[in-house]
Amino acid sequence: MNDTVRINGGVAVITGAASGIGAGLARHASLLGIKLVLADQSADALNKVASEISTDVIAVPTDVSDDEAVDALAVTAFSEFGSVDLLFNNAGILTSGLSWDIEKAIWQRAMDVNIGGVVNAIRSFVPRMIAADRPARIINTASVGGFYPSPLMAPYSATKFAVVAITEALAGELAQFGSKVSVSLLAPGPVKTDLMRDEAPAQSSKFMQSLRAMADRKGLTPDQFAPLVFAGIERGDYWIIPQPESLDDRLRQRTEMILNRENPFAPDLHKGKTT
Ligand SMILES: NC(=O)c1ccc[n+]([C@@H]2O[C@H](COP(=O)([O-])OP(=O)(O)OC[C@H]3O[C@@H](n4cnc5c(N)ncnc54)[C@H](O)[C@@H]3O)[C@@H](O)[C@H]2O)c1
Repeated sequence: MNDTVRINGGVAVITGAASGIGAGLARHASLLGIKLVLADQSADALNKVASEISTDVIAVPTDVSDDEAVDALAVTAFSEFGSVDLLFNNAGILTSGLSWDIEKAIWQRAMDVNIGGVVNAIRSFVPRMIAADRPARIINTASVGGFYPSPLMAPYSATKFAVVAITEALAGELAQFGSKVSVSLLAPGPVKTDLMRDEAPAQSSKFMQSLRAMADRKGLTPDQFAPLVFAGIERGDYWIIPQPESLDDRLRQRTEMILNRENPFAPDLHKGKTT
């Protein structure tokens, strides 16, 4: 069923489309002839990205943590274009710091955006996609950091682990019901975006600096990254992991550590490896 998801002439909804990976996905999708519904909380930046898209496009300022706003986004997408072939749950935020110092509101925001945003979209879009009774694909963005937790980024690690879990559960549910809707888990490695640009608290500023330097050195640009994502979609991949070098060794080590009942190692926090 995966291979028949419509690309050219299809419709994609992309959250977090005003910047970085989401904007890159939007630009590449338009090159493939996909009509777009772009959503982001930053209305001005979103309109700017939309103005550079050559296919049919609508920009819908949306805070993905707001369930009513996400429902309105789904209503708009289906009423304007009649179907949704691809849904990219891409919006996300990263904050750093010591777990016990991070304010409750910041912990809550990470959960509301990174988990709540995905949950809201699942609740609003999946029933409509199932009712449309045509092949469609949901692409949930976690991170390679959704497979191994990082000190000084507990809210990010926790929420990205949750996205990995929610996505796998959703895939199982849809398969069990014989749905034409399929799912992919997208786990980016370093991509040069604004994700890590926010000022970090003193305890994590060196760590974040090293992560930023690593992303600037090794990261792909969003426009290099997007075609790799679409290649995975066109293959019908569940796991879309365009930079396996950022995941495989760490995942193997972590799995071994758990199977061997070893303690987590104490990393050098000034040598950030990934997001
Ligand atoms: N850049 C990387 O190295 C990297 C690595 C792994 C995973 N990711 C993931 O990729 C996704 C995209 O991040 P990016 O790197 O392009 O970052 P980015 O900061 O450049 O873009 C994220 C976009 O999401 C939007 N956004 C944030 N909160 C929102 C909300 N509540 N509602 C709607 N929009 C909201 C922002 O306004 C921004 O336009 C995120 O989920 C991130 O966790 C990025």
